[in-house]
Amino acid sequence: MCGIVGYTGHENAKDIIIDGLKRLEYRGYDSAGIAIQEKGKLIVRKKKGEIKELEKLIDGEEITGTTGIGHTRWATHGEPSDLNAHPHVSADGRVAVVHNGIVENYMELKRQLIEDYGILFESETDTEVIAKMLGVLLEETDGSLSDAVYELTRKMRGTYAFAAIAADNPGEIVAFRKDAPLIAGVGEGFNFIASDIPAVLRYVNDIVLIENEEMVVATPDSLRIYDENHNLVKREPMKVTWSLEDEEKGGYEHFMLKEIHEQPKVLKETLYRRLDENGRIYLDGIKLDSEDLKNIDKIYIVACGTAYHAGLVGKYVIEKMSRIPVEVDIASEFRYRDPIVDEHTLFIAVSQSGETLDTLAALREAKSKGARILSVVNVVGSSVARESDDVFYTWAGPEIAVASTKAYTTQLVAMYLIALYLGDLTGSITEEYYQRILNELKSMPDKIQQILDRSDEIENLAEYLYNRDQVFFIGRGLDSAVAYEGSLKLKEISYINSFAIAAGELKHGTIALMEPETVVIALATVDRLFEKMYSNIEEVKARKAHVVSIAKEGRTEIERQSTNVIYIPDCADEVTPILSVVVLQLFAYFVAKIKGENIDKPRNLAKSVTVE
Ligand code: F6R
Repeated sequence: MCGIVGYTGHENAKDIIIDGLKRLEYRGYDSAGIAIQEKGKLIVRKKKGEIKELEKLIDGEEITGTTGIGHTRWATHGEPSDLNAHPHVSADGRVAVVHNGIVENYMELKRQLIEDYGILFESETDTEVIAKMLGVLLEETDGSLSDAVYELTRKMRGTYAFAAIAADNPGEIVAFRKDAPLIAGVGEGFNFIASDIPAVLRYVNDIVLIENEEMVVATPDSLRIYDENHNLVKREPMKVTWSLEDEEKGGYEHFMLKEIHEQPKVLKETLYRRLDENGRIYLDGIKLDSEDLKNIDKIYIVACGTAYHAGLVGKYVIEKMSRIPVEVDIASEFRYRDPIVDEHTLFIAVSQSGETLDTLAALREAKSKGARILSVVNVVGSSVARESDDVFYTWAGPEIAVASTKAYTTQLVAMYLIALYLGDLTGSITEEYYQRILNELKSMPDKIQQILDRSDEIENLAEYLYNRDQVFFIGRGLDSAVAYEGSLKLKEISYINSFAIAAGELKHGTIALMEPETVVIALATVDRLFEKMYSNIEEVKARKAHVVSIAKEGRTEIERQSTNVIYIPDCADEVTPILSVVVLQLFAYFVAKIKGENIDKPRNLAKSVTVE
């Protein structure tokens, strides 16, 4: 997804900005560009493709300016091309703009600029409207870029963050945020603005979070923030404690593999930090108590993609443990279906980035109807977290690979802890059950490690199956939730057409696709449903499918109906998703690796989806 970096200080801005853009590469992009203030002019260079293409373009060119902005673009309006890449400039080339998000009324603004000012456009982007409009407004504001930005944002509709520089305003960057992330990094004698903290972490640890509809004006020695009414806002920076090292590969071939292997460690963080000295769950960011809970008669869990799959597990365990009805919904569907939400609803948003636009919009919809908002988020200070009443931070650390792994398993732990916490508050579970499941959770890091230590088994399987055209994932109960996640992991990084279905549904249509050697990955980890699942495996085996079963150690009877079996360590039925998904993550990883795919940055995908 698009990334913004701006620097104002006394060093070479081009080098610092390009370094910052590289830190955002993992988010996915299709072109990159920079604009630098240089001796009373703006130098703008942009190129389709990777940042190294941009570097080749400016190689040997002397660009020494110390203020500038840069961008990585992920196409929304107009195809990836040099022309559509950012920055875009005003008609006289003296204002440059980089922008994330969407300007909804850009057609209307464009028409106005063409008809009233005779301005010509060269790209298909909505961003160019911002640059051209700022050029016009600067004349009316006597050259004050911040006044021009303020005026412009009164006219613009949409969800966006943008940053602008002007040739006649040396050392100044003006940026504005409306529903898309924006931060400022505070240094001594220099300042940054950026869409994401990692972009600036090499240079600063003091970060100021820019709130919605705020404008930030940065110069080397000052950082001013203005609220929506143009009043100056005072805000102290927060210290970011994670380091750049957390974001480097640490000897692994890919970030995805590193992140899969980090799961034992981050699960411990997520879990142990939530246990008090008496071994009971203590959720520091959650104020919801038993009195509040008396008022709650329904829970919605709303999210996208992998986070939605964590929600599917959440539904099972929260309903089971709290006996409160739970509905899970895809955020992009929830917001458009007039959901039945009121002040008796608890709305749980799940989001690694905390910036997914659909999730944020669904949250706002629920909030406007009076729901209490609890979010499960990885990125501290992200929009979803900030707009919630209660927050559970997953503490998975930065997740760089586009395909989510450690964020997902920490989301699962969050779901279990919330379920136990609510179950305890409602009195629906016994103390014995509470302690038993907690102990099961405590055993997860070691058991994940056991699976990781046997990675070669899964790699061998991948070597055997990597060239198939399609793969089916089936399971029942909690296993069906994991089947969806396993299927998504495989398709997004290996581009194999995969399909997940609740195993009991097979015979209602999908079984028509079973042929000799069709690959079926059958999750059979839930003891309570083992026999039912066994029958479903028999159904596909009877059609000569190639069945790879995943079962708990000791369930050797499954070998009779399976071509291969991968065993996970024994554990309670409730927590098997935390283990079985690791097998599927590794399977997807090895298949994609053998196929030679771009694992950390799969095609067409972005890490943080801040458009609809
Ligand atoms: C897939 C993946 C995506 C995200 C989805 C939501 O591996 O990572 O499906 O889960 O885009 O993102 P967040 O969790 O940031 O809201």
